[in-house]
Amino acid sequence: MSRPRPPDASHRSRSSARGVAHALLTGVLRDGRSLGASRRRRLDSRLDPRDRAFAQELVFGTLRYLPRLEAWLAHVAAHPPRDAAIRALALLGLYQLGFTRVPPHAAVSTTVELTHTIGKSWAAGFVNAVLRRFAAERDAIERIELAANARLAHPAWLLAAFERAWPAAWESIARANLEPPPMTLRVNTLRTSRQHYLEVLSSNGIPARATRHSAQGVTLESPRGVESVPGFGEGLVSVQDEAAQLAAGLLDAPHGSRVLDACAAPGGKTGHVLERGAGGVEVVALDHDPRRIGDLQHTLMRLRLAAHVQPGNARKPDAWWDGRPFDRILLDAPCSGTGVIRRHPDIKVLRRPEDIDEMASRQSAMLHALWPLLARGGRLLYATCSVLSRENESIIGGFLAARADAAAVRIDAAWGRPAGQGRQILPGDDAMDGFFYAALAKP
Ligand SMILES: C[S@@+](CC[C@H](N)C(=O)[O-])C[C@H]1O[C@@H](n2cnc3c(N)ncnc32)[C@H](O)[C@@H]1O
Repeated sequence: MSRPRPPDASHRSRSSARGVAHALLTGVLRDGRSLGASRRRRLDSRLDPRDRAFAQELVFGTLRYLPRLEAWLAHVAAHPPRDAAIRALALLGLYQLGFTRVPPHAAVSTTVELTHTIGKSWAAGFVNAVLRRFAAERDAIERIELAANARLAHPAWLLAAFERAWPAAWESIARANLEPPPMTLRVNTLRTSRQHYLEVLSSNGIPARATRHSAQGVTLESPRGVESVPGFGEGLVSVQDEAAQLAAGLLDAPHGSRVLDACAAPGGKTGHVLERGAGGVEVVALDHDPRRIGDLQHTLMRLRLAAHVQPGNARKPDAWWDGRPFDRILLDAPCSGTGVIRRHPDIKVLRRPEDIDEMASRQSAMLHALWPLLARGGRLLYATCSVLSRENESIIGGFLAARADAAAVRIDAAWGRPAGQGRQILPGDDAMDGFFYAALAKP
């Protein structure tokens, strides 16, 4: 396992980064707040880029390995802390000791220091004792045999769900979820070519390679902030995993077609469909979340692309549909996100087993509600970033059984594996995110 190096040796100067990391972690663990919502605001407003990277590494790493860190904490603390902020602090310290190159004395002293900063000096002795004990006994502790969920650092219910869906691959899915994800860009081919953009990257000293399955993708050797990605602000490229870049090709919107992107925000796939359509495709981009609609508009502006942005509920088309059928519908359904845990490790903390059935019934309701909007001869592409059959092949299987006017379109591809009437990419397959696609035709 590679051990991340702290950005520089002045560990004390990183204290505000640790403070931000601790606040973010407590937000997830105690308040059930998703990282996506709070991360950008907190990281961007207070820290310089190196501290930001360090804070991000600490929060993501701690969440990635949380069940293992919790098992370690139970081992070194006679009584696990009841105070959520102190528990988060201890876990943050253990992560630094177990998984980073921060020298142990710095990991211990800076974490103890934070107990004072957050007004909980009473816990300084406890945090000091726990971390020192781990530092002293680390080799022996790491040899202790752990339960599968602590070893693979996932909640037990989620491992069981992976195993039910993928009996031969569940463990490799869990392992792939622990790897830091690559940063992949999609080149806006209306503005430049992939080859030319690769040369731009190379001349800027940024090593990168062309993706294998997406003809517009470029993966950077090391992730970096978008502000330092050449041409990002001007709309030359977007950040999008290669698996997500496969949607526009599968949708295959022909010149002159009318497309509904039914769950469009923040506009990753909307942008790609428009780039691919080169001005010859009309897109209605729907979303029900006003805040995310703002992100969608921002994406379109940055890419200098135009779509009809429509606030509305995909399950209630009567409220917003003008009655004109669509030749293509993309349903990039809200899902458990179990295919993108490597990018959103807080999913492992925030998701509950009962969420999966609830998601599945919403996904199915969306599919049924949108189908009448599809023109005869049209195609609907169903996509999720889930690896669970309950949200994927079961939804499609149930839908096909219920609708005589729907037929599966076989997806022949060099990526992924067959999954019912669709195709599944598992996390880490060719370095991609986990994704499911199924294409349905209305003959
Ligand atoms: C997986 S994300 C879409 C990502 C987007 N397609 C992209 O590529 O950038 C799912 C989106 O569905 C939206 N959504 C969830 N339920 C919805 C509903 N009932 N009607 C419309 N949009 C909905 C969410 O607000 C979220 O933006």
